[in-house]
Amino acid sequence: MSSLDQKNIMLDPQKLKNDFPIFKSHRTLTYLDSGATSLKPKAVIDKITEYYETYSANIHRGIYKISELASQEYEDTRIVVSTFIHSNRPEEVIFTRNATEGINLVASTIGSDTVSAGDEIVTTVMEHHANFVPWQQLAFATGADLKVIDINNNYELAITNDELQKAQNKSIDLKGVVTDRTKIFAVTLVSNVLGTINPVKEIIAAAKKINPHIITVVDAAQAVPHMQIDVQDLGCDFLVFSSHKMLGPTGVGVLWGRYGLFKKMSPYQYGGDMIRSVSISETTFAEAPHKFEAGTPHIAGVIGLKEAIKYLYHIGLKHIHAHEKDVASYAISRLNKEFGENIKIFGPSAIEYRSGIVSFQLEGIHPHDIAQILDEHDIAVRAGHHCAMPLHTALGVPATTRASFYIYNDEEDVERLIEGLKKVRNVFRGR
Ligand code: ALA
Repeated sequence: MSSLDQKNIMLDPQKLKNDFPIFKSHRTLTYLDSGATSLKPKAVIDKITEYYETYSANIHRGIYKISELASQEYEDTRIVVSTFIHSNRPEEVIFTRNATEGINLVASTIGSDTVSAGDEIVTTVMEHHANFVPWQQLAFATGADLKVIDINNNYELAITNDELQKAQNKSIDLKGVVTDRTKIFAVTLVSNVLGTINPVKEIIAAAKKINPHIITVVDAAQAVPHMQIDVQDLGCDFLVFSSHKMLGPTGVGVLWGRYGLFKKMSPYQYGGDMIRSVSISETTFAEAPHKFEAGTPHIAGVIGLKEAIKYLYHIGLKHIHAHEKDVASYAISRLNKEFGENIKIFGPSAIEYRSGIVSFQLEGIHPHDIAQILDEHDIAVRAGHHCAMPLHTALGVPATTRASFYIYNDEEDVERLIEGLKKVRNVFRGR
């Protein structure tokens, strides 16, 4: 039994691998890019096929059996998602194309209706472009100030407390960061580069203490697949994530929001399901969630997401989170041992503040070269700026190599990565 098995006996990656057909067609694949997209279990693929093969009708429109079944499966998914993230009610769950679309929806509806010249939008340098650029562009369009929270030396947000303060249970203080002019606070729960888990619940509480009217938006794309999320406990107003990073299909995302806010918000797009009535002189709109789901949605994808959540439930988010920390911690210690001073690993030093993402730089070797050579050995990692250019500027590097671990990865994958990186080093030795 490996040390990982001993730590987390509930999750057996080698056994789980059998559920993922891609490992049958790529037997030597070491997949370390689940931060970009996760692999898909057979149960999810089968569910999508079942829809196309047996009840492939449009939803909310047909007065016939297969359309009713499709509608029921689609709406069941809303209920499952709602329970999964501890939402108050299924109507708070909007299906989008991805997390990015969810944030853009919020920015272009309530964002542009709320923010004016002289207001402030607060975000962080740690954001994926999807939770940075919509707010930057809104600030440009309205004349608002964009305030960007920096990171500290331990790759955490500079507003979070240092280790000593944390030990003393001191709360986060946002004086000077949030003011009565602040309208939006957008923050990621887990950094897609650093793996940092931000104390978003405490950040939101601190922000709302200063300004209770602030609208808080949480990017949970790198969190929901890996840890239990409770939107009510977090205290946020909006939260987004993507199906494809949590074993589900691509092309589906979730925007969760407070129903009271959805009621007040103007629509995002027009047409299809979001209409209540149309005349030449006037149009009225359906209530949320349909108000924000214009046109025929990705029906098969949404139904597939339900199956992905069932799969995650079956394993248990608690075990997934624990397993990823074990693998990441093992990877960090092995990388440090093998490459010593020649490797720089980014992300918090304490494993409890990080997820299963490990980004690094090997001295003198460009991340793209690393990824390309690793690929020759069937090891898939991501290299580049990971759609987080402001963060890389703050880190002082143009690019990093990222290994992101999930339920089907274990120590053996880490060892293959180490062997692959040694080969990379040999290629560059003496150049
Ligand atoms: N947002 C995805 C990533 O971080 C694509 O890789």
